[in-house]
Amino acid sequence: MMNQKRIILDTDPGIDDSLAILLALASPEISLDALSVVHGNSSTAQGAINALSVLELAQASHIPVYRGCQLPLVQPSLLAPETHGEQGIGYAKLPAPQTQPQAQKASDFLIEKIMSAPGEITLAAVGPLTNIALAIRQEPRIVENIKEVFIMGGALRHEGNTTPLAEFNTYVDPHAAHIVFHSGIPITLTPLDVTYQCVFLQEDLNRLLKIQSPITKFIADATRFYMEFHDVYQKIDGCVINDPLTLALTFMPEICEYQNLYVDVDISTGVGLGKTFADFYNYNKKAPNIKVALGVRPRVFMELFLERMEKLAKSLL
Ligand code: BDR
Ligand code: CA
Repeated sequence: MMNQKRIILDTDPGIDDSLAILLALASPEISLDALSVVHGNSSTAQGAINALSVLELAQASHIPVYRGCQLPLVQPSLLAPETHGEQGIGYAKLPAPQTQPQAQKASDFLIEKIMSAPGEITLAAVGPLTNIALAIRQEPRIVENIKEVFIMGGALRHEGNTTPLAEFNTYVDPHAAHIVFHSGIPITLTPLDVTYQCVFLQEDLNRLLKIQSPITKFIADATRFYMEFHDVYQKIDGCVINDPLTLALTFMPEICEYQNLYVDVDISTGVGLGKTFADFYNYNKKAPNIKVALGVRPRVFMELFLERMEKLAKSLL
């Protein structure tokens, strides 16, 4: 048995979040300890239902789901029904889950789990960073006890996808991103600079649909909505699957190329709110705080994603 990486996925499901959950379940390199749910693409309550339903679809209901913050730390709530659909999973319809979320709050769970296994837990954070920021504020010692955190968020040289400057996860809770970025936790960041090179195409979907299964049907129904959004709002043929790329980097880092940089997020209330920026020329002489993915091999990632989805779909027939 290979040495599996223990992962907690902090997520706001979410179409691409759901694909990240499926990729985690399909990847023997990692052990998915739990999902913690945060507001973002959907409300926390809806996101938790989606998380449980996706786990059930993949026959993985034993994985616990914890509900976290319902609101950003300072900003008002901003959900994304136009991007992910009213329920958060596009046109997909999943049966109401048979299981319930855990009673414990996500931030309490994160603290308990991390402190009970020092240096062992890797977080993959693919939604706004509210749960993790709150956990850091509640128990600052988790900073030294988390192994590392992989974050989907930000746009350094790339345009924003929520404002002209800002990416969704950092825009929705910029104050949380600020806390996490400056916490001292080892961070690998996957910004739009690389995720926007990873476009899931109709031909990729057609390949998956050669297997008739509930998993491939879910992926088709969810991504059809996402593809329509990308076509209408961004003139992109296909859809950008941000969150599975971040998850994939936890066990296959060679998909990307990285630079260690000083990265910050704008929390001043102006046009740049939520904008992430890197000090590429080291003007401020500050030590790098983040390892940033700035180059990617898109088809290597997509091949991994497709193979894993095929394997999962077949294994559950
Ligand atoms: C991020 O925001 C959400 O729409 C996606 O789930 C992803 O985590 C991309 O900006
Ligand atoms: Ca997400």
